[in-house]
Amino acid sequence: MEVIETRQQLRTWRGKVYGSVGFVPTMGALHEGHLSLVRRSLSENPWTLVSIFVNPRQFGPNEDYQRYPRTLETDLRLLENLGASAVFTPPVEEIYSPEDEVHISLTRLSRLWCGSYRLGHFDGVALVLTKLFHLIAPSRAYFGEKDFQQVRIVEKMVEELFFPIEIVRCPTVREPDGLAMSSRNTYLSPRGRAQAVALYKVLQYIQTLAPTTHRTAELLQEAQTYIAERFPDVKLEYIAIVDEYSLQPIDHLRQSARPRALIAAYVEGVRLIDNLLLTPPEEES
Ligand code: PAF
Repeated sequence: MEVIETRQQLRTWRGKVYGSVGFVPTMGALHEGHLSLVRRSLSENPWTLVSIFVNPRQFGPNEDYQRYPRTLETDLRLLENLGASAVFTPPVEEIYSPEDEVHISLTRLSRLWCGSYRLGHFDGVALVLTKLFHLIAPSRAYFGEKDFQQVRIVEKMVEELFFPIEIVRCPTVREPDGLAMSSRNTYLSPRGRAQAVALYKVLQYIQTLAPTTHRTAELLQEAQTYIAERFPDVKLEYIAIVDEYSLQPIDHLRQSARPRALIAAYVEGVRLIDNLLLTPPEEES
């Protein structure tokens, strides 16, 4: 496995490889969720490149950029064992310069949900991915559905900017109790960790009500009560039921062929997100 730190080394590597290149962008602190993306890429491409770059532009001033877990040695070992072809782990100066002019400003999708609480977050994601897509020129790029809004925005960006890249969505990988895997789970104390399962539990609860309760306002009211009664340490940021293509909220489950529940909440000051595709009423047996 080649470990690449500069754009020049990356260009050289890219010039040597033929056939499809699968790209797995990450910020490191790898867990089974990331590894599932790498495995999928390895199964679909002769070459798989993983980037490890904690992107300063996607963190707000009061967010956890400095504190974000950095576990490079372990990450490299895991990727080597899986059989990744190369890892791109650039220092910040390889990607950004203080004189940079270009900023990407997204509109509709990025202002909803997480974007309305994390101002500029998706602009930063779009900027770093644009740079990485240009440098790596992958055939396919792999994203986990846990960050559902991110996947939709990346799909839209790739379509609008004519990147010849297939975006591959991969299912969320969960802990045995259902908590979605996330690098930020490591911030939680054992008590916080026990409360964090609330996000998945409430999504499942909505799913169990969905065949009989089709009005989303009712579902969301039930969901809020469920959290308040069972998980008092969980501070809900938002919970929504949307059409998964437009990310727009829906009033009734029948309004979308693919309704999806999205949630963001704080546990011990740690921001966690999750989402679940709901079976639309038409598909009931
Ligand atoms: O999902 C992430 O880890 C990041 O947002 C990404 C896609 C690597 C861009 O920095």
